[in-house]
Amino acid sequence: MHKKYGSNDAIVKHCKTVARVAAILAEEFARQGKDIDLEATAEGALLHDIGRGRVQTVRHGLEGSLILEGEGVNDKVVQIVRRHVGAGISAEEAKKLGLPDFDYIPRTREQVIVCFADKMVDAEVVRPFEMEVKRFEMKGHDVGRLLSLKQNLEADLREDPEGLVLRKIKGTR
Ligand SMILES: [Fe+2]
Repeated sequence: MHKKYGSNDAIVKHCKTVARVAAILAEEFARQGKDIDLEATAEGALLHDIGRGRVQTVRHGLEGSLILEGEGVNDKVVQIVRRHVGAGISAEEAKKLGLPDFDYIPRTREQVIVCFADKMVDAEVVRPFEMEVKRFEMKGHDVGRLLSLKQNLEADLREDPEGLVLRKIKGTR
């Protein structure tokens, strides 16, 4: 699918790393006996930047979701891709950005996991969440929403998701 839609190697590598991080979080939910779709999480993570072959702006989430819809991909996966951009985009902001009137906020566990995992991966490197907070500050993005993303995941997981990811990633090296 990445080949078909013009993703370069960097995009594919990035998606694979995000999928590793997402799997750590999804598997922890599964281990706790919580409802989680491991397959949709993996597919969503692997395909989340498929829209970057078309556009580099925040619109790549929407473009990716439209590509996947056209390919008949499971709507769960489509929604993960549509909602991974920023730390969620409200309908009002979407209007300002000229995006069609969809909900772009990650809400389900699978959507939140992939959005958060993406925020911990720069290119193909897993790095502390704090670095993404700094990047948001520098760019004038909504830091509060980024912090809420992490807090909500932490409340749901009953564990610091960042600590878990960094620990497990180290363990695999
Ligand atoms: Fe993206």
